[in-house]
Amino acid sequence: MKKEEYKFTVAVYDSIDELDQADAFLLAEARAVTQFAYAPYSNFNVGAFARLVNGETVSGTNQENASYPAGLCAERVLMSSASSLHPGVAIETMAISYHNLKGSSNGPVSPCGICRQTLTEFQHRFDKPIRLILGGMEGKIQVIENAEFLLPFSFGSDDLK
Ligand code: THU
Repeated sequence: MKKEEYKFTVAVYDSIDELDQADAFLLAEARAVTQFAYAPYSNFNVGAFARLVNGETVSGTNQENASYPAGLCAERVLMSSASSLHPGVAIETMAISYHNLKGSSNGPVSPCGICRQTLTEFQHRFDKPIRLILGGMEGKIQVIENAEFLLPFSFGSDDLK
């Protein structure tokens, strides 16, 4: 028997003012697009905003449905848009923010499990890690260099061979 250790590092910032200009822009836009979420059931508006490797930008917001499981998270809406509008172009960095209409929007939230799975497959497709910037409307911000850090031991297309 041997033990293996898996580690990853998260950069933590006290506020958006500490980010460099490019990252601060992405987070500010992710915050801004939360207003386009359709989340009448959760009142939890999520906004995602990404820069692609060719410099284009794409946004996404959560889109809910009275049939709850039909709802889509902001991150997956963004990835579907990126893949459809800019086929073949990898995502470099994605900022994710939220506006909790019924509570606090202070500090980051992490992508849900299904989005982690989708982020992992997206970056495998393009062989390019996706950087994540996670922050609320205010407060602490986390920057993660590789979305896959959030889903160790992921299931992927290789497993189907
Ligand atoms: N949601 C996202 O859009 N992204 C996440 O990373 C977490 C959750 C959405 C799904 C649902 O519309 C609402 O937030 C509450 O779960």
